[in-house]
Amino acid sequence: MVSKRLGILISGRGSNMESILKAIQNGQLIAEAGVVISNRSDALGLEKARLFGVQTVVIDDRHFSSKDSYETELVRCLMEHQVDWVVLAGYMKLLGSTVLSAFDRKILNIHPSLLPAFKGLNAQTQALEYGVKWSGCTVHLVSEGMDDGPIILQAVVPVLSTDTSESLSERILEQEHIIYSQAIQLAVDGALLVEGRIVHH
Ligand code: GRF
Repeated sequence: MVSKRLGILISGRGSNMESILKAIQNGQLIAEAGVVISNRSDALGLEKARLFGVQTVVIDDRHFSSKDSYETELVRCLMEHQVDWVVLAGYMKLLGSTVLSAFDRKILNIHPSLLPAFKGLNAQTQALEYGVKWSGCTVHLVSEGMDDGPIILQAVVPVLSTDTSESLSERILEQEHIIYSQAIQLAVDGALLVEGRIVHH
């Protein structure tokens, strides 16, 4: 079977992207990295991707006059690289209808909380400030709302009374690096059956 091609979107350091590229390299994830696209030219992840020999492209959203024209270019680039699945890995923009309709239910995201708790930015700080005793991370399909699509996998970590947002983020990130590749494998294998909000696998 021909392995599916991923288009990985980043904005920053790219540690999730790196864990995915490592999993592909080790044969733990059967997929191909078609392209890594960043909306920031100074994203640290770009250099990491190049070290894996993956093609990188910068598409800076600030150089476009509208969200739609930016996303049209994003879709063109993803198509050009024959991407089957789009993987958001620390991509800091909310996707609009242009990308969502081009890759309907073929976009994954990872979020550092147990959704639906603590959507949006600084989820780890939100969890600490709320006083939860457990937190974690969630891989989900992307829909119009922020951090709102059907959930594929979650992992749980304890929140310690000594935690800072850095220490909690680190504990969560370890789990992110495990479950993201697992969820991608399920997705590219066609093993996800989506019924409304419920994902069976
Ligand atoms: C991760 O915590 C991820 O859950 C969130 O953004 C962060 C990206 O980190 N969406 P990295 O760029 O993958 O290191």
